[in-house]
Amino acid sequence: MTTIRPTTIDAGTVLAADPDWWRQAAVYQVYPRSFADANGDGIGDLRGITARIPYLVELGVDAVWLSPFYPSALADGGYDVDDYRDVDPKLGTLADFDEMIAALHGAGIRLIADIVPNHSSDRHEWFREALASPPGSAARDRYIFRDGEGPDRSEPPSDWESIFGGSAWQPVGDGQFYLHLFAPEQPDLNWANRQVRDDFLATIRFWSDRGVDGFRVDVAHALAKDLTYPLRSHAELEQTRLAGDGSHPLWDREELDEIYAEWRAVFDEYDPPRTAVAEAWVAPTRRHRYAAPTSLGQAFNFDLLRANFDAAEFHEIVDRNMAFAAETGSSNTWVFSNHDVIRHATRYGLPDDDTAGYDIGKQWLFSGGVSPAVDAARGLRRARAATLFLLGLPGSAYLYQGEELGLPEVADIPDTARQDPSFFRNAGVEIGRDGCRVPLPWAADAPSYGFGPTDAAHLPQPEWFAQYAVDLQAADPNSTLTMYRRALALRHELQGPENLAWIALDHPDLLAYQRPGGWTILTNFGDAPVPLPSAFADREQVLSSGPIDDAALLPAETTIWYR
Ligand code: GLC
Ligand code: CA
Repeated sequence: MTTIRPTTIDAGTVLAADPDWWRQAAVYQVYPRSFADANGDGIGDLRGITARIPYLVELGVDAVWLSPFYPSALADGGYDVDDYRDVDPKLGTLADFDEMIAALHGAGIRLIADIVPNHSSDRHEWFREALASPPGSAARDRYIFRDGEGPDRSEPPSDWESIFGGSAWQPVGDGQFYLHLFAPEQPDLNWANRQVRDDFLATIRFWSDRGVDGFRVDVAHALAKDLTYPLRSHAELEQTRLAGDGSHPLWDREELDEIYAEWRAVFDEYDPPRTAVAEAWVAPTRRHRYAAPTSLGQAFNFDLLRANFDAAEFHEIVDRNMAFAAETGSSNTWVFSNHDVIRHATRYGLPDDDTAGYDIGKQWLFSGGVSPAVDAARGLRRARAATLFLLGLPGSAYLYQGEELGLPEVADIPDTARQDPSFFRNAGVEIGRDGCRVPLPWAADAPSYGFGPTDAAHLPQPEWFAQYAVDLQAADPNSTLTMYRRALALRHELQGPENLAWIALDHPDLLAYQRPGGWTILTNFGDAPVPLPSAFADREQVLSSGPIDDAALLPAETTIWYR
């Protein structure tokens, strides 16, 4: 049995000014509305998070990444920000924020705040000012307004499509349109405008001064845009996107370097320097720009999240990213789940071995709100094996709330309860991302499964949530929660130098790698047991993702940690 880290930690020693704290951190993503509800209105809040800090300590995470908590009408789950330097009254106050961060730090946990620079909400004071001001005004220049086409200017400036479906241009009634790559409630900011740049520097300072340790940068690859006329067609854009060579007018442009160099200068005003991780859905070969130490310093690698549960794919991805980390000087980032994709316990149970079905487009599998085709037991078995494979790797592990419970995607949310704009704007095509955002089950036998003191929950929790509840799993030595707790406690022991050595094994379904301190991680990706390779026969088995009934056999879809 592994000892769990104590629940009270001396803040002074734990949060010593280590500038490298982020390099191999286990970062736990809190989606605040769905984590814990302190006041019983059905919406998770900051005081709910503060109350659950002992849980985070026991889980053993090094940092929390907090999805947006700013004032918002929730047109896109908070990624539509009304005011970048305040707390949503539905979630609490700035005083609650200060209390939360002090308590996190006191427990030895850092805080990474989500920052959303590509677009504000349409309720932001700047956007309201822009609408009230004439075409060509300074107020409109903070966003991307363009004249409509056609004799009466009623046609959009181009045929560009928004990520959530429909036109990317919204008319404002005076012959102009504004650009929104996401929902119409999310007007894109103009990053060629000096005021926009300065305001975000002020925002970074505002939260850094309040103790925020790092930032997760939303759609970091979209800020710089080439909008010279004539605007290219949607079809041309698609072609350039596939080329992935930096010539796309909207994504992944070189001008981003200059923007993030300014951010870096502000991060470096602090001790330890504030960190940042880019959310940039770009080709792996294009990630360097964001991860460079002169830029944001780290970038999400979504390669495992998009991969099939397959030894060869995982092997190639690890090698590629180890090389990437060496080239950039950044550390690796590993992710299986977040608030935008199907939870991996469900993804790995999809039929036809299509376990790479990560994106919301793939949610057609849940047609009519049900997912008859998902093999839940297999999904969980593979998710646990994949997680133990991931947690042994050098670099940061980004975990999404609920994955430590093995929580599946909730497929059966009634249409009337759905919130995600991608559901509404793509009616009948995508069911959206609500299924991974359902409020967490904390207690099997309590109103709202312990999410809050009442039975209110802003997305309906299915009855089967009870069996995944924290209180049941905490008492079960074989639960997914117990596995996560043990692995995260042990993880600190294998975090020496950021390297690994593969162990050659003569079987296509097996992968094994060695970490510092004699730790070895062995995974069977196949669906049949394999005789245990002789190299492992005498080793001490410390942790496994599933039951081991026969010491001479490595079960299907299972990972074991050896010392
Ligand atoms: C990012 C967020 C996603 C959001 C989008 C627009 O991809 O992760 O949730 O909808 O940006 O802000
Ligand atoms: Ca609440």
